[in-house]
Amino acid sequence: MKQYSFTGIANMTTGQLNNMLGLAKEIAQSRDLSVYSNKLVNQVIATMFYEPSTRTRGSFTMAAYRLGANVLDITPRNSSLEKGETLVDTFLSLQAMKTDLFVIRHSADKIISQLAKQFNTPLVNAGDGMNEHPSQTLLDLLTISLHRGDIRNLKIVLVGDILHSRVATSFVYAMSKLGYGEFCLVGPPELLPDEFAQSGVQIERDMNKAVTNADVIMMLRIQSERIELFKRQEGILNNHEDYFNLYGLSSQRLALAKKDALVMHPGPLNRGVEISSEVADSSNSLILKQVEYGVYARMAIFLSLLDKQYTEQVWEAGEA
Ligand code: CP
Repeated sequence: MKQYSFTGIANMTTGQLNNMLGLAKEIAQSRDLSVYSNKLVNQVIATMFYEPSTRTRGSFTMAAYRLGANVLDITPRNSSLEKGETLVDTFLSLQAMKTDLFVIRHSADKIISQLAKQFNTPLVNAGDGMNEHPSQTLLDLLTISLHRGDIRNLKIVLVGDILHSRVATSFVYAMSKLGYGEFCLVGPPELLPDEFAQSGVQIERDMNKAVTNADVIMMLRIQSERIELFKRQEGILNNHEDYFNLYGLSSQRLALAKKDALVMHPGPLNRGVEISSEVADSSNSLILKQVEYGVYARMAIFLSLLDKQYTEQVWEAGEA
């Protein structure tokens, strides 16, 4: 049987993405999660996070436990990477121990898909540089689908640091595969260059105009760690008050959207920079629901890669 990896939304077919979303939804709507609790007994999942994480790491670990799998967590600071070992050699050693699946977060773009081409153990991309964060997109789609149904009937607005955000990249790929009603990207030129419009996606500089009548507003933090220091020290990126006034989501701005608009954010939040506390903690906010649904989305990813029945249901049935 062909071995699959979950490396990005870009290289999934529309069918595979829909099937994965369908499985995540099936798990989320299951009245009894214990039906999944023995699905991956005796399987070992290694988590390797070379960048900090709270939600993604916790969520993948929780998903593994919910399925009965064991988790081997490799922390770069306490591993032989500190002694100069390469990622590939670390990976080969863990593969020699018969690890069943690897979850990897790394600062290098596309490193997970490169590894997936070299090795035949399933890999899961937990965020690779500025490239993709596909499990975040899966949980974002699951959240919208559970609370609003078909995304093709909605106005969805994605606001903030589009340029440096792997969350944005994966989400834009998903929109282009699944289709959408109205979809627009919002941000200052420093974080959303004009060239983004060339890919056919609508871009907007006026936040008030963008959020008017929106069904879903997804806010993104400024990825300071990926922006060179001298750029961070200039203009709007250096002035949180100016940034919030132009691109932040305040209650006044949220009032321009549909009354029941969903407010989303992948986290971590920078309160007062891209979103006010009032909005983040409001009844429109699904930020903590996203975290909850992330576990179901990641259970779906593991099942699809490690259980033959689900591999057929998600990957094989969705092959173009
Ligand atoms: N959304 C997200 O990737 O959060 P973490 O960096 O905490 O994993």
